[in-house]
Amino acid sequence: MSEFEKKVIEYKERINNSKNSEEILSINSEIFGKNGIINYEFKKLGSLPHEEKKKFAANINKAKQELTDIFKAKSIQIQDKGIIEKVSKEKIDITLPEKDFKIGKIHPISQVIDEISCIFSEIGFSVEEGPDVENDYNNFTALNTPENHPAKDMHDTFYLDEDMKTLLRTHTSPVQVRTMMKGKPPFKIIAPGRTYRSDSDQTHTPMFHQLEGLHIDRNINMGHLKGCLNYFIKEFFEVDKIKMRFRPSHFPFTEPSAEVDIGYRLENNKIIIGEGDKWLEILGCGMVHPNVLKNCKVDPKKYQGFAFGIGIDRLAMLKYGIKDLRSFFDCDFRWLNHYGFDPLDVPTNYRGLSR
Ligand code: PHE
Repeated sequence: MSEFEKKVIEYKERINNSKNSEEILSINSEIFGKNGIINYEFKKLGSLPHEEKKKFAANINKAKQELTDIFKAKSIQIQDKGIIEKVSKEKIDITLPEKDFKIGKIHPISQVIDEISCIFSEIGFSVEEGPDVENDYNNFTALNTPENHPAKDMHDTFYLDEDMKTLLRTHTSPVQVRTMMKGKPPFKIIAPGRTYRSDSDQTHTPMFHQLEGLHIDRNINMGHLKGCLNYFIKEFFEVDKIKMRFRPSHFPFTEPSAEVDIGYRLENNKIIIGEGDKWLEILGCGMVHPNVLKNCKVDPKKYQGFAFGIGIDRLAMLKYGIKDLRSFFDCDFRWLNHYGFDPLDVPTNYRGLSR
């Protein structure tokens, strides 16, 4: 075996044993570089007798081809290994619990909407949504609101056109209409969302949040309404007993109508729900007016039911001790950091709503 042949075997081994791309590249230049063994061997050609030249060159070319093939195969292997290692290092197990969540909080309003949806889903309500920009028909007319009703006044309603046909919904009740129009009874839905009225002081903001509830079926009565709200308030405030009172009221879309207050007392500036002799209004409700059912293609002789509209912001203030309604919408990062919720603290009925 010639010296060259021995070297070729040695290089084949070295290539095969190389561990990384730097190593294999340096071997490559030792073989194929200007001063590499291939060139070195070719240089010998000149001094050889003519008859030997052909065989000698063929030998070098064969070795060159073999080394090139091994080099290519090994390079690919090293490259693949690198990619696999990189990918395995970058792999994240998203099922592992995160320990260090410092950035990002869930706004108390979003949290309270999730809590409320959770509570109502437990007794068979599903969630509906409607647009913030409504038409006059869904917001007022279909809801049995007369043409000259004070709520239609410019001072209350944000109209979006001169004809007063398009507006920002003043309550979530138009979702009742949308739900009944697109389906067939029975209906059992809640609809949380933004609502707008031209009003601003310590307890009113031009944009606020409501949650509509609607339950239409055969033989639904005021007792069902009372039971439903009683259950909701207990679950929401996480207390065993509550004080609740129905005050007669008026809404064009319900008959009879009531406003519901809950009893509370103050202790060291903290609100204790279910005791004491103070009352706080939290929602409006009633039995859906037959005219509304008719407007929504539901036969009031066969079906009836209740509806309610809860002020979400107010409930959030009460439950989480937030004093000023306007702070909800200040976009103050420090405030959100204090009152906001951990993104992983998703409310569930089983684990507890607000732990
Ligand atoms: N939409 C009423 C309001 O905004 C609340 C309400 C809803 C009352 C459903 C009765 C039934 O004040």
